Amino acid sequence: MINYNTIMTQEELFKILVSHCKEYGFIFPSSEIYDGLGAVYDYGQLGSELKNNIKRYWWEAMTRLHENIVGIDSAIFMHPRIWEASGHVGAFNDPLIDNKDSKKRYRADVLIEDYIGKLEEKIEKDVEKGKKKFADAFNEEQFRATNPNVLRNQKKIDEVKKRMADALNANDLAELRQIIIDCEIACPISGTKNWTEVRQFNLMFSTQMGSVTEGANVIYLRPETAQGIFVNYLNVQKTGRMKIPFGIAQIGKAFRNEIVARQFIFRMREFEQMEMQFFIKPGTELDWFAKWKENRMAWHTALGMGDENYRFHDHDKLAHYANAATDIEFRFPFGFKELEGIHSRTDFDLGNHQKFSGKKIQYFDPELGENYVPYVVETSIGVDRMVLAVLSHSYKEEQLENGESRVVLSIPAPLAPVKVAVLPLIKKDGLPELAREIMDELKYDFNCQYDEKDSIGKRYRRQDAIGTPFCVTIDHDSLNDRCVTIRHRDSMQQERVKIEDLHGIIAKEVNLSNILKKLK
Ligand code: GAP
Repeated sequence: MINYNTIMTQEELFKILVSHCKEYGFIFPSSEIYDGLGAVYDYGQLGSELKNNIKRYWWEAMTRLHENIVGIDSAIFMHPRIWEASGHVGAFNDPLIDNKDSKKRYRADVLIEDYIGKLEEKIEKDVEKGKKKFADAFNEEQFRATNPNVLRNQKKIDEVKKRMADALNANDLAELRQIIIDCEIACPISGTKNWTEVRQFNLMFSTQMGSVTEGANVIYLRPETAQGIFVNYLNVQKTGRMKIPFGIAQIGKAFRNEIVARQFIFRMREFEQMEMQFFIKPGTELDWFAKWKENRMAWHTALGMGDENYRFHDHDKLAHYANAATDIEFRFPFGFKELEGIHSRTDFDLGNHQKFSGKKIQYFDPELGENYVPYVVETSIGVDRMVLAVLSHSYKEEQLENGESRVVLSIPAPLAPVKVAVLPLIKKDGLPELAREIMDELKYDFNCQYDEKDSIGKRYRRQDAIGTPFCVTIDHDSLNDRCVTIRHRDSMQQERVKIEDLHGIIAKEVNLSNILKKLK
């Protein structure tokens, strides 16, 4: 079986994936009949099933596998002072730069990151060339440490990364611009290097609450779900009789007026986050930070999408609230990019809410016999980015031995939108009735799809294209022997099984508990 993915460029694959998502009802551009709305997307009938399965995997991994983590669902609208206390009003900015010729606006840091990405690509190309040239005798480590091209590019990368981190940390916008000039970065549209100054742009959306006559208040659409957890810390700790260390988890929408909104659902203006704030004793944060790094990486790799497709990226520039931070990056079709953030947020948020609200937000530690403002380690992952990770990893175009080809989404079975397709071989002779009987048996535990249209081959292809792990075919013999053919999506192997065994065979692969059990 040839896997076409190795032949297609990743960029081509990504374009095909975007149209596949639309064609099969996973993801649609928002407001499409009005020509869409920038960086806003709607989930279709299959996309929303996939998204719900991802959320369920996260929620259960957090709240069921940890007795000391509970979940909440706080409102999107919150008191505007919250965003002053959290630092978002003052510091939730992106550095913007415009190209004077194309009039296009960019994030200065993203332009520089793309430049670094290109240098990294050059290194990888040199390594590939080396591999081909020296074949079995190739020593990659030695090549990377000695090849003059690789060394030169790596030196540039290190220098530019350091300059950018220093500039961002010092909020030095002139230096950011200077890096763009020094690296001779050109606008991808006009091709010129005619840049404006860099200036800051706040990412929060605002709206008004109350009518104008009453005196309306400016309020913000939350740019992260985390603050809904912080302001409920006392409520949950007291009513849940929670003892430190403990966590509060939440899944919900967040909104950011992203300037460089691109790459499909990777960077959206309205998106969903799954965040968990873990409240701990001050001084223990770096231990907990390390534990949560390990825990979250295990959550990802348990899905079986290849350990080599994940890596940590420790931050050089820390957000205004953090004293340690890392990203879990995933190998998307456009390179390794952030999928999840893990941050040690100190007592920044609770401390500030205490200050701004005037309410005491503390924990009485019975072991120490003293009060303190808890420290926090946060894990924060975008649901939409997780959907993109799963879809982009799963999409495959395969050439089969019989000369045909197929498109298959090899979505991890517990996340697949439809678990089983029930297919009567023909739509007469009592086969549809038996198929319906089987559907009625399975539908309480598994999302099933009934399909009696077209040839069986076409029906298999349709199910492959949406990632259904099992197809069950009912034929004339089934009426007598109460056996059916079950086909496995990835191997395309078929086996004859008893109808009464179907439930167990399917459950063994698609139940979420299978992956949850892999987590410590
Ligand atoms: N509370 C911390 C926080 O919000 P973040 O790194 O800004 O941290 C966390 O966001 C995660 O949310 C990211 O790792 C990413 O998966 C997701 N995310 C952030 N901005 C996004 C956007 N514009 N579109 C889609 N997902 C986004």
